[in-house]
Amino acid sequence: MTYTFVTLFSNLIEGYFKDSILKRAIDKELLEIKYLNPRDYSSNKHSKVDDTAVGGGAGMVMNPQPLYDALDDLKKEDENVHIVFLTPVAKPFVQNDAKRLATKSHIAFVSGRYEGIDERVIEKYADEVFSIGDYILTGGELASLVICDAVSRNIDGVLGNSDSLTVESFETQLLEAPSFSKPKNYEGLSVPSEYLKGNHSKIRSLKLAMSECKTKFFRPQELKKYKITTKL
Ligand code: ADE
Repeated sequence: MTYTFVTLFSNLIEGYFKDSILKRAIDKELLEIKYLNPRDYSSNKHSKVDDTAVGGGAGMVMNPQPLYDALDDLKKEDENVHIVFLTPVAKPFVQNDAKRLATKSHIAFVSGRYEGIDERVIEKYADEVFSIGDYILTGGELASLVICDAVSRNIDGVLGNSDSLTVESFETQLLEAPSFSKPKNYEGLSVPSEYLKGNHSKIRSLKLAMSECKTKFFRPQELKKYKITTKL
């Protein structure tokens, strides 16, 4: 998978790939990361990339010209590139999107700064537009990293143990059961005693009951879509 981050601020993104799971995936050549700066395409003599909004309104809007030229270049280089825009005015990104996008060969994330991106750019180039939640960030860079991370762990070989994908929150419509590590007793608090007895079928039913409890408490709307198997 190749990711191209189309951003004015690649420094905000680069650090994330310098450690841990995604660094290992890059080292294994499962992922390749590229950057494209719209400022490099600006025809303005001062390399300006934004202007005040036509029709009024607060803040600066990113001009179409640098983004048109940058994205044209990108599409010329790879006609299969899947172009994703990040904006709060969009469909919320969910786990199914992460799984679906993991099958692409090249995703470009286009991040807006300032008050947003000229709508004509989105209309012309967007294959998809995502929001990562109902709050306003200072730009799309964090949102693009969130999506990139969630997509990457669904690519074969990126996670050390692919089993860890199968029983996670959202894979089963339920939130995941609590996990515990060593020691079994810590500051007077024990892990659930069933976890210690080694009966895996009992552990599985206890985990399912706890998953249903967590989902009922934190996501009551989600639980309605799910057929409850234990008495809560
Ligand atoms: N840019 C600013 N806020 C955002 C959000 N919530 N999701 C995606 N992109 C954004």
